[in-house]
Amino acid sequence: MTQQSISITETTSHKDKPVSDQLEFGNVFTDHMFIVDYKEGQGWYDPRIVPYQPISLDPASMVFHYGQTVFEGLKAYLTDQGEVNLFRPEKNMERLNRSNERMCIPTIDKELMLHAIKQLVSFEKDWVPNAPGTSLYIRPFVISTEPYLGVAPSKTYKLIIILSPVGAYYKEGINPIKIAVESEFVRAVKGGTGEAKTAGNYASSLKAQEIVASKGYAQVLWLDGLEKNYIEEVGSMNVFFKIGGEVVTPALNGSILEGVTRNSVLQLLKHWNIPVSERKISMDQIYQAYQAGTLEEAFGAGTAAVISPVGELAWQGESLKINNGKTGEVSKRLYDTLTGIQYGREEDPFNWISTLND
Ligand code: COI
Repeated sequence: MTQQSISITETTSHKDKPVSDQLEFGNVFTDHMFIVDYKEGQGWYDPRIVPYQPISLDPASMVFHYGQTVFEGLKAYLTDQGEVNLFRPEKNMERLNRSNERMCIPTIDKELMLHAIKQLVSFEKDWVPNAPGTSLYIRPFVISTEPYLGVAPSKTYKLIIILSPVGAYYKEGINPIKIAVESEFVRAVKGGTGEAKTAGNYASSLKAQEIVASKGYAQVLWLDGLEKNYIEEVGSMNVFFKIGGEVVTPALNGSILEGVTRNSVLQLLKHWNIPVSERKISMDQIYQAYQAGTLEEAFGAGTAAVISPVGELAWQGESLKINNGKTGEVSKRLYDTLTGIQYGREEDPFNWISTLND
């Protein structure tokens, strides 16, 4: 499988590239994409880089009906020396395979995927944007393609990788966002698909997101599906709180997505000897800390969002202002260090960076 060489068909019409410092998130795509097919009995076959184009699928393809699909998100960063860095891509590929397992999709050789990403990004190197805070977002995804209306795992799939030059995920950029604690809808329950990166989790989040967006909040903060009290994660990122000098994030429990940035934040905090713990934490505890004046910072962590400070939390009709709505010291240090490592401006003590030639 790893030995299969990737064929390349070059486009005959290159698109105009966007102006780097005007990039938003996820609405521009490069000239080429990667595809590999799967058929039961044959495995993954015919890896290829082809011009970016619409794909033709049978309307009975199972992905349209039962949502058997998974995705990933990682980024390529342009360094001041003109090199392209990838940040812990192997972690994303491992998670993709865990999501595949959960969704009954055949796993894919990690080395093939890493090779495909490096080949595709090298081929599209000129699309990696250079304005501060921008990057080339890499979106691998798998769809089930068998034309069949019975509810069963598909016998055929496509893994596709597309690339998108991106700016900040939130319109607030790196400034603090306002989020609303969601008390009606739930995202996931233990035993469900919350820990897999699958489309349905995001589709089911849209209603709550739509309601809070109309009230001026950037995202919802999800609580556990049973008691609606324990904190899980924010719409597109994991969440951390600094309470009385200790940084706390909800422990992984089967319904929380295991973020690569989350893991990196935990490692950095330990490296800096900042007290940090992963544990069950309730909204009541957050509120008590707020009232006691010990809720010092809150921030989200994710690939798309990087480190996103939370300046305000709406809960049960109250608005909790955190750190006077300003970016906290630890959030800022994490943002600076993570992006410093990603853009090759800071030492990389954990060997998180791989280059396209590694
Ligand atoms: C990412 O952070 O890469 C994600 O996949 C979140 C996405 C829903 C924008």
